[in-house]
Formats: sequence, C-alpha cells, structure tokens
Amino acid sequence: MNGRTHQDVERRGRQRREGDAEAARLGSGAMFDGIAESYDRLNRIISLGVDQGWRRKTVDAMRLAPGHRVLDLATGTADLALMIADRHPGVEVVGVDPSHNMLAVGREKVRREQREDRVRLDAGDAQALPFADDSFDACCIAFGIRNVPDRSRALREMGRVVRPGGRIAILELSEPRNGILGPLARFHVHEVVPRLGARLSGAQEYRYLQESIAACPSPDDFADVMRDAGLAVQDVLPLTFGVCCLYVATPEVVS
Ligand SMILES: C[S@@+](CC[C@H](N)C(=O)[O-])C[C@H]1O[C@@H](n2cnc3c(N)ncnc32)[C@H](O)[C@@H]1O
Repeated sequence: MNGRTHQDVERRGRQRREGDAEAARLGSGAMFDGIAESYDRLNRIISLGVDQGWRRKTVDAMRLAPGHRVLDLATGTADLALMIADRHPGVEVVGVDPSHNMLAVGREKVRREQREDRVRLDAGDAQALPFADDSFDACCIAFGIRNVPDRSRALREMGRVVRPGGRIAILELSEPRNGILGPLARFHVHEVVPRLGARLSGAQEYRYLQESIAACPSPDDFADVMRDAGLAVQDVLPLTFGVCCLYVATPEVVS
C-alpha cells in the first residue's frame, strides 16, 4: 500500500469527493453570491473597460426585431439583459441565473432603470430550463457557459427553447494561445486578475475565474462541442486579440 493506510486512502477519497461537490456547488452559482456586490465594478476594471463593447456585439449578433422574446442565461447582475432592452424597445427579456445575490443586484438595476415591464429575472439553471420548446426568438449567455458544470446539456437546452431560425449568441473569455499579445493576456489573466480581484473584493473567488478561463476549451474545440450538442454554428468571432470569443449559432433543424 506504499506506506499508506486504508484510513489515508479513505480520507483522500473523501477529500476529493468533497472537493468535487464544492466545485459543483460553486460552479452552479453559489460562488457568485459572495462577489455580487462588487461584480460590476470589478468586471469593468478587470476587462479594462471593454466588456460592454463585447456585450454590444452579442446583442447585435442575435438580429433582434420588435416583438421578439429573448432568453439571457447566466444573467447575473443583468448587464446584458438591460442592454438588450435599451437597444431594442420592442423586445422582452427573461434572465435566468442560480445566484440569488447576483439576481438581487440585477433586479435593483432593472427597477432603477424602470425596465420591469420588459425585463424579468428568474432563479434557474441553464442545464434544466423551465420553458417550452421553441418559446424564445433568441438566446444569449455572456461569461456564463464556463461556469455551467454540464455545458453540453446547457447547449442542448438552448437549442430546444429557441425556435428554428432563432439565433443563439455565446460570449466567453478565452485564453489567447498564440500571437504577440498571448503572453501579455496570459499574464493579465493568471497574475493580475486573481490579485486585483482578491484585493478589490476581499474575496478569493477571482482565483476561480483565472482557473476556469484556463480550463476552457479553445474556440475551435468549443465550436465542436456546440455542434455535438445539435447547434448549427454560424460564426466564431475572436474579439480583442482572442481574449474573448463570440459564438453564434442556430438550432439545427431536424428533418
Ligand atoms: C461571470 S457571471 C456573468 C454574468 C453576466 N452574464 C454578465 O454578462 O456579466 C457568471 C454567472 O453565471 C451564473 N451561473 C453559474 N452556474 C450557472 C448555471 N448552471 N446556469 C445558469 N447560470 C449559472 C453565475 O451565478 C453568475 O451570475
């Protein structure tokens, strides 16, 4: 037994199981409860102010029209949901997120901006959506898919609730592996983000952000995951030297 006792082995197994359970718990939103109050401010600082521009491209990619109904998954503090409502007066948005504290900050913003008539925020999980098939004209998720434990399941759910021809826009950070800015971007994500996040929010959760970005599949691999989940990928657009990527798809029509 390599000098290890049965108790050692059992203890390590127990620790690993507890670690997995913690990861699953954190990944499904509880972690964000701890940083909800500082999330918006930190987002702007960490992304060096470019995150709203990336969200605008996400909104445009959905090609919305008056009367459309949009689902914003992992809506968090509702930045994307509110941007959709601002830019498209005739569109209704439903935001879904499992973090009650993120939703509380989001609801306050919706109330402040007087958007309650067109923006609704619900507690929920992207992996099991409480909506009928084809009940939305479009769906988006910004900086959320990497937190979902079973990404394929969430992607299949998106394909199920969006009507045929409707657009699905997924915005996610990625790690630029090549190019002149690759080392700089990696330094920013691995060294600056966790330290700045911990310093400004007093929370260690930003270590998780760095780890979850590094663990994300490359854009090509993620596009394959989308195809395997039954989506027809229309576009994979690297943004800001590949620090972020916008994936656009439609539900695959089954004939
Ligand atoms: C980095 S925040 C992004 C918030 C927002 N979309 C934005 O653009 O700022 C990630 C969000 O994913 C949410 N999340 C984690 N697991 C989820 C799941 N299983 N289903 C839906 N959202 C989830 C978290 O609660 C958190 O609010």
